[in-house]
Amino acid sequence: MTGEPLPAFRDDLELTLAECWRLLQEGAASRHSAFHVPTVATLDEQGLPELRTMVLRAAEPERRLLRFHTDRRSAKIAQVARSPSGAIHIYDKPSGIQLRLAASLSIEMEGDEVDAAWAASRSFSRICYRVTAAPGSEVEHPEDVAFDHGAADEGRGQFCILLARIHRIEWLHLAHAGHRRAVFEADEKNAGKPEWKGRWLVP
Ligand SMILES: Cc1cc2nc3c(=O)[nH]c(=O)nc-3n(C[C@H](O)[C@H](O)[C@H](O)COP(=O)(O)O)c2cc1C
Repeated sequence: MTGEPLPAFRDDLELTLAECWRLLQEGAASRHSAFHVPTVATLDEQGLPELRTMVLRAAEPERRLLRFHTDRRSAKIAQVARSPSGAIHIYDKPSGIQLRLAASLSIEMEGDEVDAAWAASRSFSRICYRVTAAPGSEVEHPEDVAFDHGAADEGRGQFCILLARIHRIEWLHLAHAGHRRAVFEADEKNAGKPEWKGRWLVP
């Protein structure tokens, strides 16, 4: 929970929505932010929720998009192909802010955006994509996990991006002066600049 002074966004829906996207953009840029490592939910083949931590790589309010990087052999890829329904959760203890996002998920394996994401990735991060067996497959012993260190493409062949197009944002701000809760829903019909409708909720 936060103390005084009260932030400007506290009783203002427009500023609260702007703060959501500011925090997400800060999360993508700074590994010190709680918003850097959201929990991403997908639905498994039984329709049950699956949760995992992922590094937030980019947040674009104009496109209502969050970008994540992953291995195209990982379980979440087949899950997203079956059901695009996703959810994202973040809680930042120092600020007392929780975000719950509803999203439509998609996977991109080729194209300019994937090429640019790969080009910007560090060689240390690329090593993960050189693991020879699919992430999540069973091994007899932990030491049996092998990496193709000589891979000509450095692992690019296993790399893909997960895009989350956000259509609902639920904001909760815990504060001694009184909690604030709001929901923002995107106008799905609007293909251009996103329009959000915000409402206050009982915390
Ligand atoms: C701090 C942290 C950051 C992570 N970042 C990513 C990531 O950016 N991409 C990813 O695919 N997995 C990441 N993981 C691993 C996932 O949480 C998960 O274990 C893995 O992706 C397998 O998930 P799946 O079997 O549902 O596909 C991260 C885990 C932690 C603890």
